[in-house]
Amino acid sequence: MNAALELRGIEKRFGATRVLRGVDLRVEKGERHALIGPNGAGKSTLFDLVSGRAWPDEGRIVADGTDITGQPPPRVLARSFQTTSVFAALSVLDNLRCAMLGAASSRYIDRWLPSRKTDERAQALLDAIGLAARADEPAARLAYAEQRALDLGIALATDAPLILLDEPTAGMNRAEASRALALIRATTESRALLVIEHDMDAVFGLADHISVLVQGRVIATGTPAEIRENRDVQEAYLGGAAW
Ligand SMILES: Nc1ncnc2c1ncn2[C@@H]1O[C@H](COP(=O)(O)OP(=O)(O)OP(=O)(O)O)[C@@H](O)[C@H]1O
Ligand SMILES: [Mg+2]
Repeated sequence: MNAALELRGIEKRFGATRVLRGVDLRVEKGERHALIGPNGAGKSTLFDLVSGRAWPDEGRIVADGTDITGQPPPRVLARSFQTTSVFAALSVLDNLRCAMLGAASSRYIDRWLPSRKTDERAQALLDAIGLAARADEPAARLAYAEQRALDLGIALATDAPLILLDEPTAGMNRAEASRALALIRATTESRALLVIEHDMDAVFGLADHISVLVQGRVIATGTPAEIRENRDVQEAYLGGAAW
């Protein structure tokens, strides 16, 4: 079976700096895969390459058997960013509608027309992210954690089979983070997830597999139990790397 996502020999340089050094990574369909590693390891850069915001200098990116290297593939994947990226002037509900219609329009132009179905899905998503009471307010008025919840809703609004989330619980308190994680778990039930996360409790509670990126290299990939036991990973942590 094709993997949901496969990276082969990915190299990325910024000037003379090799930010990614021969990265291989495989995310199976239906798998929740966490990407962890110290600040500056290259995690967000990897997401930029997968989501077509930047080109790798070498290597291929394949999603479900299709080469997507350097192409933004809206139907294949949906992504959230490390920093909040909602439309501040639009209402909370319209942010979700835009995400749904934007993804659908690349396929069928007639889906641009807002439909009752879109509204029903948006409403259900609003409930799930705990923002139903704020539906008509401009997103700018939301607190930071609420904006992050909306970010999550935007990424989950499409039916893309592959979801990339960059630090979805950053800046949230315990209760907010645990609600966000429950939502991520529920809405990725039948999809593939690649998530960057610094909170180890969240990582170990969510992921089926974990890859550890250190200075642009994947130093280990395995189940949570395997990663916990891995000597190289322990050394990278004990060696003073900041998580
Ligand atoms: N556009 C760019 N131009 C030059 N250097 C960049 C660019 N984007 C990222 N870098 C550098 O690449 C390295 C990896 O950055 P990246 O943001 O991918 O790390 P990260 O693993 O996501 O870190 P964090 O956990 O802090 O978010 C860093 O040294 C960063 O300064
Ligand atoms: Mg990052």
